[in-house]
Amino acid sequence: MTVDLALKNAKVYTPYGVVEAGLAIDNERIVKIAKHVNLPPASKEIDLKDRLVLPGLIDVHVHLRDQELAYKEDFFSGTAAAANGGVTLTIDMPNNKPLTMGLESLKERMRIAEEKAIVNVAFYSAFPGEIEEIHRIVKMGGAIAFKLFMSQQIGGINPEDEEKLTKALKEAVKVGVPVAVHAEDAKLLREKKMKYGESEDLEDYLKVHSLEAEAEAVKHILQLSRVTGTHVHFCHISSSEGIEAISAAKKSGLPVTCEVTPHHLLIPSQYLKRVGAVALADPPARSQRDIDGLWKSLFDGVVDVLASDHAPHTVEEKREKSIWRVKTGIPGLETMLPLLLTQINDGHLDLPTLTKVTSSNPSRIFSIRGRGELKEENYADLVVVETKREYKIDSSRFYSKAKYSPFDGWKVRGKPVKTFVNGHLVMDEGEILAKPGSGGIVKWSS
Ligand code: DOR
Ligand code: ZN
Ligand code: ZN
Repeated sequence: MTVDLALKNAKVYTPYGVVEAGLAIDNERIVKIAKHVNLPPASKEIDLKDRLVLPGLIDVHVHLRDQELAYKEDFFSGTAAAANGGVTLTIDMPNNKPLTMGLESLKERMRIAEEKAIVNVAFYSAFPGEIEEIHRIVKMGGAIAFKLFMSQQIGGINPEDEEKLTKALKEAVKVGVPVAVHAEDAKLLREKKMKYGESEDLEDYLKVHSLEAEAEAVKHILQLSRVTGTHVHFCHISSSEGIEAISAAKKSGLPVTCEVTPHHLLIPSQYLKRVGAVALADPPARSQRDIDGLWKSLFDGVVDVLASDHAPHTVEEKREKSIWRVKTGIPGLETMLPLLLTQINDGHLDLPTLTKVTSSNPSRIFSIRGRGELKEENYADLVVVETKREYKIDSSRFYSKAKYSPFDGWKVRGKPVKTFVNGHLVMDEGEILAKPGSGGIVKWSS
């Protein structure tokens, strides 16, 4: 048989280690990983010239926007940014306009993504007000998880309504999907905002979005996970205290997982104070002590996932005079992999940890079948990297509409040079080759 594509002369990162081999791809999937002479004949061959092939990244925390927020990002620009960053599957957050909350809104987002996306996209839904809707959103709508903001009501459930929240979490357990949580406590945020909200000092912003606000929400949700048995996935944990509480809960057997972003690992609050709002996200940058705690937890295996929290805004929205009016969030899809490869080159990170937290763990946690590892029968979602290529991050060249970055000017070593999605070359040397709509929609499946 003749296969669609053979990638020859590569170093392939498989679950069994790096092998010098080629990959045969047919009908979207990897059919063989073997020495070139043992690969089947192919209609097309690409020589990878000894470069490293990693599983495409699965970024579980991405705000692709579109619809009424398309001025910030849309499914084409966001997934082009993903492809440029070696990300082959993004899981889209629900805080959109209109909100992703229910069958109709999911259907509409999937329809638009089908027309525009060039990498694979899966979807979170916000919790609906009607508990009975929860199972339909997954089983008929295809959402793969729910997203819960503890910082404010986004969706049908007020995070301060303990009874309703408990019911929703119980229902998520029945349906068998995780609940991703933005852990900042609404009441603490409100109280501190009353106290410091008149000030324009960044220092006071940090007092509102405090370590305690995160720790309080983490502990609250852990308690609810204990009562309900919910698989809680904590988004963007930023503090030592937060991560320690999660570590203890894991040890006690709770079904919880957590994620950390590259910006929380690399940007201390001192840097945020120097560069200003361009580096501002919620939760914000923390002290070196917290950063050290996050790194330690990454090596201890407490951190399950690294995700970008790609949260694009316009440059004008980031330049608002008042710190309280600035839109928080950083576009991270195009910088995550280069920054992490740089950490490997600098000896702070290793390849097995990188692939675990960006590919295999995400696929396991969100039950995404056939992706996350390079092995025969899996989809050919992969990224070719040049591990020693040096360049400077330049946000003016992003495919994302959000052309700003706190990492602008940083020298990185390690570059994604080709991205394949479902066996198709979608990015080559920074050029996007794919047509809008060539990406796939990944839905919940039983
Ligand atoms: O910084 C943030 N930006 N934190 C969030 O929770 C939301 C996000 C966004 O959507 O912009
Ligand atoms: Zn968040
Ligand atoms: Zn987010």
